Amino acid sequence: MTSSDAAAATMKKVPIPANGVDYRGKVVLAPMVRSGELPSRLLALHYGADLVWGPETVDHALIGTTRHVNPTTGMIEFTKPPPNAHPSKKNLGSPPAPQLIYRLDPVRERRRLIFQLGTSDPSRAVAAARLVAPDVAGIDVNAGCPKPFSTSGGMGAALLKTPDKLCAILRALVEAVVPEFEVGVSVKIRLLETPAETESLVRALCRTGITGLTIHCRTAPMRKTEPVKREQLRMIVGVCREYGVACLINGDVTGRDEGVRLAEEYGADGAMIATAAEKNSSCFRTAEQGGLAGWREVVERYLRFAMEVENKFGNTKYLLNILIPGREPVLKKTHGAQSYVAVCELLGYTDLIEQARVVDDRLGLSPEAKAREKAAKEAAVQEKIREQQIQQKQEKQQKQQQASKRKYSDSSPRSRSPPRKVLVEREGNGNRNAVPEAPAQAAPAATFV
Ligand SMILES: Cc1cc2nc3c(=O)[nH]c(=O)nc-3n(C[C@H](O)[C@H](O)[C@H](O)COP(=O)(O)O)c2cc1C
Repeated sequence: MTSSDAAAATMKKVPIPANGVDYRGKVVLAPMVRSGELPSRLLALHYGADLVWGPETVDHALIGTTRHVNPTTGMIEFTKPPPNAHPSKKNLGSPPAPQLIYRLDPVRERRRLIFQLGTSDPSRAVAAARLVAPDVAGIDVNAGCPKPFSTSGGMGAALLKTPDKLCAILRALVEAVVPEFEVGVSVKIRLLETPAETESLVRALCRTGITGLTIHCRTAPMRKTEPVKREQLRMIVGVCREYGVACLINGDVTGRDEGVRLAEEYGADGAMIATAAEKNSSCFRTAEQGGLAGWREVVERYLRFAMEVENKFGNTKYLLNILIPGREPVLKKTHGAQSYVAVCELLGYTDLIEQARVVDDRLGLSPEAKAREKAAKEAAVQEKIREQQIQQKQEKQQKQQQASKRKYSDSSPRSRSPPRKVLVEREGNGNRNAVPEAPAQAAPAATFV
């Protein structure tokens, strides 16, 4: 045993719950809204990411979802009823699809998926975390996103300005989620302006009982194009060590080899990669394993995963736009593609076309599926019209019966004569002297309408 092994053995460590994972010694995929959906995570795992963070999911969005296993793909899906389930003409035809909030792979992501929560309230955070905790290896709180959609609700980087609230959220999660589901709780933050401010925040966070902390080495106002600042890193790593919390470094890490080197240089426990992995997930391979793969191989692999899990086509196209280098002429053509078949044909992945046909059909993207949808919509419109006609007829009959009842309920013979106005209308032609016919006892109600 070397002296560093001995030091590691005696190192303080917050216990890792039985169903959780230790972030130590890991190079992981960062949480990325839109870019971190299931096929991207499977791609990162395929190329060697040790753990994957899902995209930030806001507590409000998750609360109220139903968990189910997709019978075709085997994926676990958390869905909500469609936002506009009202049966307007637009929604006629096949029933509107439920809203997909989160999708995960119970096999390939088992013990490797960290769910990232967007929250600004301890009880909501717990309510949301409870829904996914049985299916993930950890719950991470986003306290670093500076985008208005996150900060406007007091979430993301806004939590860096309300450290008491952030600590209350983490404590609530640790108290509820750790004993009940035996998974760890972690946090992802950015640097504060001064080392003293950052240190005081990191100490407070480490005292909440979290197992891990990721530091994105930029302050909240810094743009992602600005180079990261690593001056505070040793201090942060040191504080985490003191409390036994695993510390991952993030920001401008280009691949596994660099992540391992930086972690060693700063004494951190591992590294997290976002942008480089978004462009080409094979950055998780070491140079020895072959390093970066060519874009055609990566895109083909990505498409396989996207189709396997029936990824929303719009999201797949968004990712293709990032995975295919901008200089490639085929990129422009894929912009106009409307289906998986079209994309596979354009990119020349002929052996994927059969699978693409099946997926297009299931997702309603094939010409046949579109025709079926159109026919179903038309049939539903006709059915609606028929129902309305029947209803109108029934209402009319009801009115006539009521009018007729009113008329005959009065026993006075005089009142049996149709009112003068009605007579005039019936007689038309200005024949005001015409003698009205006495109504037969069983006269149809419609006579005087
Ligand atoms: C497309 C995109 C989406 C992101 N979404 C999230 C998110 O959901 N949660 C989060 O904590 N950070 C998010 N980030 C920030 C990254 O996780 C990461 O902290 C940042 O990009 C710095 O790492 P990098 O230099 O490797 O890109 C996102 C970044 C990108 C590029």
